Amino acid sequence: MKMPKKLVFLIIIALISLLIWIYHTSNFEYNSTVLILKQNNYFRNTLIQPSNTSCNRNPFLVIIVTSYVGHVELRSAHRKAMPPEYLSSLRVMRIFLLAKIPPNERYITQEAISDESNTFGDILQGSFYENYRNLTYKHLMGLEWASTNCRNASYILKVDDDIVFNFNRTYHFLKKLPKGNRNLLMGYILNNTVPRRNTENKWFVTFEEYNRNIYPPYLSGWYYIISPKIASVICEEAMYNTFFWIDDIFVTGLLTESLGLKLKELPKNYWLEYYELLECCLQDMIKKSIRCDYVVGPNGGRNNLIVEFNEAYRNCQTRNCTLRPKDHELKTECVVHKDRAIFSDGEAEVHNINL
Ligand SMILES: *[C@@H]1O[C@H](CO)[C@@H](O)[C@H](O)[C@H]1NC(C)=O
Ligand SMILES: *[C@@H]1O[C@H](CO)[C@@H](O)[C@H](O)[C@H]1NC(C)=O
Ligand SMILES: *[C@@H]1O[C@H](CO)[C@@H](O)[C@H](O)[C@H]1NC(C)=O
Ligand SMILES: *[C@@H]1O[C@H](CO)[C@@H](O)[C@H](O)[C@H]1NC(C)=O
Ligand SMILES: *[C@@H]1O[C@H](CO)[C@@H](O)[C@H](O)[C@H]1NC(C)=O
Ligand SMILES: *[C@@H]1O[C@H](CO)[C@@H](O)[C@H](O)[C@H]1NC(C)=O
Repeated sequence: MKMPKKLVFLIIIALISLLIWIYHTSNFEYNSTVLILKQNNYFRNTLIQPSNTSCNRNPFLVIIVTSYVGHVELRSAHRKAMPPEYLSSLRVMRIFLLAKIPPNERYITQEAISDESNTFGDILQGSFYENYRNLTYKHLMGLEWASTNCRNASYILKVDDDIVFNFNRTYHFLKKLPKGNRNLLMGYILNNTVPRRNTENKWFVTFEEYNRNIYPPYLSGWYYIISPKIASVICEEAMYNTFFWIDDIFVTGLLTESLGLKLKELPKNYWLEYYELLECCLQDMIKKSIRCDYVVGPNGGRNNLIVEFNEAYRNCQTRNCTLRPKDHELKTECVVHKDRAIFSDGEAEVHNINL
């Protein structure tokens, strides 16, 4: 049977159109991938690298602290609470994650940051501007640095500079985790958080930025634990995902969702959501010799609280403090303003960035 010439002609036209269409769509995808790669690559360029990075000593833990470039006092408090020599004796190292001084910042100079870096060697400064909308870059920059330079570390701990945490308990908690877990991602899980759509809110999110009605479960960026291997796959995954500026949601929620990673919850009684609770817990150690077994909480704007808290805990141990009586739960004894629903509000509100 012979095909009519017209039909052959039509088939050829159809094939050519199909090829053109395929070419165009793939080119479009290629272009948008290149765009995402370019944008998401910001976190790979740095101005200052930590000089004191003896990661060849196979550290046990790397602490990465997100810190606004102007928060000099907070960084001092961290160094005082956990001096580098003490950390180093436990095979723990710490770096601070900074970004470029924003144009409207009058209280800090790049020379001062360079001096700080020369003195302590613990600063990693990105080449993007300090801004709450650039926190995702900072967060990824820290994970990328720690997971490439300290690949052999057992764990990475990500904290914010305005968070108080008990180092002694953190350390012993990690030591007790089953060894060889290369896939750990553990923190305070936030479920069912919804995007803020009120345009008056500093943290509002447009539908272009995020078009679903709910965020996937994610970990509070205040304090979470991650193994270097997971940190490195997350950084890789970030290159192929549409950028989202709320850093903990993007890094520990959206990226882990698209990688199919499971989030683990920290033990009960590990976490205090309110500064006031932490203050009560601290005062009970000092005044009533009741040991505070909570590990993490916000500093409520008190720069030195991380020093006081760790000091009080140490003193408590030498003084032989008692444990908290079961019928005197901290959360019922201590009066807090419960109307501030910090976590249900997208959590980002508590970031203490002066802009
Ligand atoms: C990690 O450990 C292996 C084997 O112990 C070693 O060969 C490698 O150099 C270490 N890597 C880093 C980045 O320290
Ligand atoms: C580097 O770290 C060690 C402890 O690991 C400390 O003794 C030393 O002072 C630090 N040096 C600098 C320049 O920070
Ligand atoms: C984030 O950093 C980039 C690179 O420095 C800068 O161009 C941009 O303006 C910053 N974003 C904001 C919202 O400041
Ligand atoms: C934690 O405190 C206990 C009791 O004071 C002490 O024996 C231990 O060495 C401390 N651990 C660290 C990591 O400092
Ligand atoms: C969030 O969900 C996880 C898993 O379903 C659960 O283990 C965790 O307790 C929840 N967290 C909170 C704060 O409700
Ligand atoms: C600490 O307190 C416990 C219980 O009250 C007691 O058994 C123990 O002997 C005390 N230890 C010291 C060193 O005082």
